Amino acid sequence: MRDAQPKAIQLADYQAPAYEVTDTHLKFELNDGYTQVHSVLTLKQVGDGNELVLNGQDLELLSIRLDGNELTTDDYVLGDETLTLSGLGASHTLEISTQIYPEKNTALEGLYRSGGMYCTQCEAEGFRRITYYPDRPDVMSVFTTEIIADAEQFPVLLSNGNPVSEKTEDGKKHVVWHDPHKKPAYLFALVAGDLQVRDDHFTTCSGREVLLRIFVEPQNVDKTEYALDALKRSMRWDEEVYGREYDLDIFMIVAVDDFNMGAMENKGLNIFNSSCVLANPATATDAAYQRIEAIVAHEYFHNWSGNRVTCRDWFQLSLKEGFTVFRDACFSADMNSSTVKRIEDASMLRTVQFAEDGGPMAHPVQPDSYIEISNFYTVTIYEKGAEIVRMLHKILGAEGFRKGSDLYFERHDGQAVTINDFVQAMEDANGVDLSQFRLWYKQSGTPVVEVLTQYDHAAERLTINLRQSTPDTPGQTNKKPLWIPVQLGFIAHSGEDIEVRPDQPDFWTEESQVLHFREAEQTFSFGGVIEEPVVSLFRDFSAPVRINYQHSQSALRFMLQHDSDGFNRWDAGQQLMLHWIELAEKGRFKLVKEDIAALHSVISDESLDPAMVAYLLALPSEAYIAETRKSYDPVAIHNGREQVLSEVAEALIEDFKACYERLNVPAEYQPAPADMARRSLKNLALSYWARASSDGIEAAKAQFKSADNMTDQMAALRVLVTCADQAEAQEALNAFYEQWKHDSLVVNQWLTVQCGSSRLGSPDHIEKMLEHEAFDWRNPNKVRSVIGAFANQALCHFHSENGRGYRLLADAVIRLNASNPQIASRLLTPLTRWKRLVPSQSHLMKAELQRIMDSGSLSKDVYEVVSKSLV
Ligand code: TRP
Ligand code: ZN
Repeated sequence: MRDAQPKAIQLADYQAPAYEVTDTHLKFELNDGYTQVHSVLTLKQVGDGNELVLNGQDLELLSIRLDGNELTTDDYVLGDETLTLSGLGASHTLEISTQIYPEKNTALEGLYRSGGMYCTQCEAEGFRRITYYPDRPDVMSVFTTEIIADAEQFPVLLSNGNPVSEKTEDGKKHVVWHDPHKKPAYLFALVAGDLQVRDDHFTTCSGREVLLRIFVEPQNVDKTEYALDALKRSMRWDEEVYGREYDLDIFMIVAVDDFNMGAMENKGLNIFNSSCVLANPATATDAAYQRIEAIVAHEYFHNWSGNRVTCRDWFQLSLKEGFTVFRDACFSADMNSSTVKRIEDASMLRTVQFAEDGGPMAHPVQPDSYIEISNFYTVTIYEKGAEIVRMLHKILGAEGFRKGSDLYFERHDGQAVTINDFVQAMEDANGVDLSQFRLWYKQSGTPVVEVLTQYDHAAERLTINLRQSTPDTPGQTNKKPLWIPVQLGFIAHSGEDIEVRPDQPDFWTEESQVLHFREAEQTFSFGGVIEEPVVSLFRDFSAPVRINYQHSQSALRFMLQHDSDGFNRWDAGQQLMLHWIELAEKGRFKLVKEDIAALHSVISDESLDPAMVAYLLALPSEAYIAETRKSYDPVAIHNGREQVLSEVAEALIEDFKACYERLNVPAEYQPAPADMARRSLKNLALSYWARASSDGIEAAKAQFKSADNMTDQMAALRVLVTCADQAEAQEALNAFYEQWKHDSLVVNQWLTVQCGSSRLGSPDHIEKMLEHEAFDWRNPNKVRSVIGAFANQALCHFHSENGRGYRLLADAVIRLNASNPQIASRLLTPLTRWKRLVPSQSHLMKAELQRIMDSGSLSKDVYEVVSKSLV
């Protein structure tokens, strides 16, 4: 909590530290109600100045000794969140003791209690809640950690690196861990609890044996197999694709229930939100399995992209996050369908990141200022950052990119570096000039590309005129042209691709079929084009831009059936459907026979990957539809989309029924790509079928009762919640709760399906769920399942005309601001979009933002988002 206005930290003010901490010895005494932390730091002067600034927050300072001498308050300056020593020499030993209260820590940063265990979350600035320390990523140290705790209550005591010693004395267990790799404090971790472990082994490419261990609460041991499997596949993949080998003899994962984010890559001791690691067929959906695979890989990959080579300061966050998201996306693409993975990622980017980039919190992938760094763990840093790395991959080719990453890891191993160092390595390894490309990191806002094509039949020549511009964003105007890779293809009437040969070969990369668009406006021409092709632009979503190019309805139907690029095939269908929904909103929609034929040809094409068919037949989400509009009315969007859904369901009812029956075969559940694909199409078919007929509803009821896996049970429940009459929907929900109330992760899914429902998720219902025995304000997963689902998915209720949805969200933000600022700040995002709503709603939203602002002492987290949104 703050009194004065918090001030922004600027990239331009970066200064290297004066002192390095070569060694850090920590001793934790975990006692009931309080914990003491004793640190011994070996200091060495490395930079200008003789001043040492230590960070500290909510700490009780017990004692401080310099080279063995106890210091008094005259010897140092204790600021609000710093402790400063000046006039120091070349080297010193500093010993500090602090007392902290993990039991009272509801912010879930630093050391805290989750259920019966202790755990830590130090990224980005949580270590300063444990002890006074230079809590900045460019101070890297070798850590040795001793933990002392009640032997019976906390038989498992973990920290980073390798176990050194262990003993039990007078009922207290003492363990020592040593991590030989130097690391910044944000990668420190400690866990204590009565945990069960599941072990496995991995032999690295050089033949070293690594012990793999997953620690969980006893009731969850039967949910650890898949994460271990995903871990071993990740380890192999990083060796094969990036030449990166694991570097300790032990790798541990711990699952905790109370966690602000998905997971954390602490060196050798990854800590996971239990929802992102625990799964068995009966309790986890296919989507959860895929999320687990991706997050396990993501955290593991950080061992090189983040830990061995880390960030100089938090403005460089995308150095590790953008690169690691790119790496985990490629891994998931290799394990499953690469086209489907691309569709999922691009569609998320276009829905969520474009909205962020067009709103008050828009920031560059390398920001130049922040008030609270926790607010910058955003889709822009993560997903747009990953898109930039992907563009580099397209520009340099797979081989050139690998040369660049090899050089980057070799050159910077053990260092804390900048985004520029990464790009420099790519440049040096490939002999290319990426100066213009670097603008992608500096300019915020989503570029718009306008495309005009012209075909000259007599000359057999096609010309493409491209114009780019990037809109103004907070603090940025007059943006420069970016280097935009445009992957493209020409499709002949036969449906086959024809060769693309530009007259400007310098602007073309054959390997990736990429045109390099680098000026505000450029015209490219292509000779030898003997018939007028359909131009398929930005294949594979080759750049994170908005495209302005009007294909005709018939061209879109043609692409939906023939584009050899899976992403554009899907996107053509999405554009068609967006158009249908727009017409429906104006009361002018009727599915024509050509549309029905196109959809029919997709659903009956058994040569296609069923997961792909499911995506081809799914309407754009309400959130994406909203994002394509300048200003929007959520209720109109909802009603238009519902009408299109119903018409499609009725027109193709026989197809959906047949598809469901064909795919609904009894089979033992496997989380394998082919089975997941089959289930996704089957359940999509069920959702349409149930919308159009009571037979479909009956099929959903039968599936709900007989399902032996959560994918099918949850899909059936969702269908009933959406299509059955209210009483039946409620009956199914009640039955589900009775079946699963002992399993907190399943209960979260149960909360989400109703609170995110445009049918059930009314403000009244949300208020009821907040009172439910299953709800807990202290658990972030519960808060996300109720309030997050409501505000992000049940859009027509959240935006209810009387403003109750907004008030409900603002009340939750005000409440959480005091207990968990990170969660409060994330939750409030939907309110920041007020400018995009129709005016009546817009006013109501702004008023709630103002009410939060006036509600008293705001955390930095909430203050930053609210104050920037009110401008
Ligand atoms: N580095 C983590 C990741 O991307 C992110 C993270 C986990 C985090 N927990 C956090 C960031 C808490 C801020 C606060 O894998
Ligand atoms: Zn990460």
